[in-house]
Amino acid sequence: MIQVADSQLFQRIIFLREQIDYHNHRYYVLDDPEIPDQDYDSMYRELEDLELKHPEYASTSSPTNLVGAKSSRGFNTVTHSTPMKSLGNAFSEQEIQDFDRRIREGVHSEKPIDYIAEPKFDGLAVSLRYEKGWLVQAATRGDGNQGENITQNIRSVLKEKTLIQGNFVPQKLEVRGEVIMLRQDFDNLNEAQKRSNQKLFANPRNAAAGSLRQLDPTITASRPLKIFCYAIGALSENPKFTTHADALGYIQTLGLPVSDQIETVQGVQGCLEYYGKMLSKRDDYPFEMDGVVFKVANLDWQEQLGFTAKAPRWAIAYKFPAQEATTQVEAINIQVGRTGVVTPVARLTPVFVGGVTVSNATLHNRNEIWRLDIRVGDFVIVRRAGDVIPEIVSVIQSKRPDETIEYTFPQLCPVCNSKIVYEGEEIIARCSGGLYCHAQKIRSIIHFASRKAMDIDGMGEKLVEQLVSEGLIDTVADLYRLDVETLTKLERKAEKSATNLIEAIDKSRTTTFSRFIYSLGIPQVGETTAELLAETFENFDSLMNANEEQLVGIPDIGPIVSKAIIVFFDQKHNQEVIQDLLELGISWHKVDHIDTVTNEFNDSSEPTSPFRDKIVVLTGTLSITRDQAKSRLKQAGAKVTGSVSKRTDYVIAGEQAGSKAEKARSLEVPLLNEVEFFQMLGDRNYPASNRLIIQNCD
Ligand code: IVH
Repeated sequence: MIQVADSQLFQRIIFLREQIDYHNHRYYVLDDPEIPDQDYDSMYRELEDLELKHPEYASTSSPTNLVGAKSSRGFNTVTHSTPMKSLGNAFSEQEIQDFDRRIREGVHSEKPIDYIAEPKFDGLAVSLRYEKGWLVQAATRGDGNQGENITQNIRSVLKEKTLIQGNFVPQKLEVRGEVIMLRQDFDNLNEAQKRSNQKLFANPRNAAAGSLRQLDPTITASRPLKIFCYAIGALSENPKFTTHADALGYIQTLGLPVSDQIETVQGVQGCLEYYGKMLSKRDDYPFEMDGVVFKVANLDWQEQLGFTAKAPRWAIAYKFPAQEATTQVEAINIQVGRTGVVTPVARLTPVFVGGVTVSNATLHNRNEIWRLDIRVGDFVIVRRAGDVIPEIVSVIQSKRPDETIEYTFPQLCPVCNSKIVYEGEEIIARCSGGLYCHAQKIRSIIHFASRKAMDIDGMGEKLVEQLVSEGLIDTVADLYRLDVETLTKLERKAEKSATNLIEAIDKSRTTTFSRFIYSLGIPQVGETTAELLAETFENFDSLMNANEEQLVGIPDIGPIVSKAIIVFFDQKHNQEVIQDLLELGISWHKVDHIDTVTNEFNDSSEPTSPFRDKIVVLTGTLSITRDQAKSRLKQAGAKVTGSVSKRTDYVIAGEQAGSKAEKARSLEVPLLNEVEFFQMLGDRNYPASNRLIIQNCD
């Protein structure tokens, strides 16, 4: 019995070692990892655990005793002057407490330990050797003892920092750091790769590693890489630092980049606070971090604590929860949006990632399906970062089950059987069924009732589906014909909730012009464009009859949006529904247009203000927000309107003022610049240094 169990255990250890070796090779050598870090970490931990509990199976060639992997790319090998070790990992508060306890025991300290807390950059570790200020060698970590000589490649990353300067330039210095790619640069690079039909990088780390480890350094030079330094590997003369922070400060005086997110913290409490802070800001940083690192600040203590075979005892990485996980594709479904856009969606075996359980991931379009070569049954890596919709990063080809078949994109809408047509370089697929398609009809009614549109409280997705499928509503206008009696006949609708719903529908009859425009679901017209249109046009008729010239004349509205608006209002069906809605009593306060507003001036305004009873239009970028400017003007007794006419008294033109300023000139309406505006408000000394520049007010 015992023997069987033992042999199973040994099999498992061998299996884990093989798997980890394989994934090390993919990660460190090929820069093309196949599984998420989380899966790797858990295999690694399991192996470490088994080896610890069963020392009889320990082996010096186990990956738990090695750092990284050996190179096979054709670079020359260099030996590090001191080994480039790895870091121990912690995944919980408890593990940080255990780490801190080990440290206090190790240095015999009762008092809270000072730690240097740093971001854990997700990139590629490098070592830079300088002699008399000049960079003489750069190497990757490799297996920890020997790495690849990437001296030529790193020059374009370091730029002028291939020569370090400062008050104290040592004979010899080895600096350790991480080469990374900023998220934005990664997105741009992948866009460019996509355009030129080249392989996409799975994440910024792979892009950084793949870009740096190019045999042709001109390729590296064409890629946007950055470096952050975080340690000294060797130093010929010792300027006698007391703490790790001193050492980092010194590297910085030499002109080498050190992150400004590094802090000294005290004890476990300080570590946990730093971790919490960095985790909550994780997605706001321009670069990816996979955790934070705590290092004992005192360098004498670091020496005293020393290293294990793999990592320093005086430092630990506290990893962030994974944003990527492995799961399986159960189905690929097609979703039809309110404007008919057809989006493929992968239905997944639910998996916990990025703090939520994910069971769907968007596949964007058919090109994405081709790019990923995704099939039902595939094991995939799903990523959910921040509030972003979950996405499939890659398919784990080596895990593909035998019986999978290539996915074919449907030619007909799965809801209404209408033909699917393609636009936008054949990428965007759209159901040609229009409002004949139930999916589009339902989506457009849901949109109409949604919070930012007509805001009909209680009119959710399920109810709209029910109302449409029971034939009770066919257009958005039909919502205003519903009554309590009809609603109570619906399954599971009590009279009270039916009454509430009818009240909510009634309440929505009075809205704002911009909400109404937005609620119509005109393709390309989001909230902001709806607001612009409401500001520009005095009534619905003038909007409906606007020609392309008028629409394109509105700042921020281009030919695509203009065309979409014109096409929308050209449809007889849309005209009828709008007419119907207006007849059913949809109305709005015409706040922004003087022609239709009576008694809008503020009677409690300053009696002597030159703006009293004046009609004013704001345009361009001011150093205060548009709302602030409006409220100052209203306080001064002015009426702020959206469009320039002969009745306008002043146009206040900030920077980059466009067509409204033009119109003011042509109608000879006085134009005020920002300084004149503040002077007339009485703010003669408006301090320029206090100004907050708000872009794109128009
Ligand atoms: S210190 C002996 N500090 O994490 C000290 N490493 O998992 C070893 N890393 O190989 C490194 N950010 O590539 C250190 N602030 C940081 C780091 C950091 C990222 C990487 C580095 C290292 C790996 C270990």
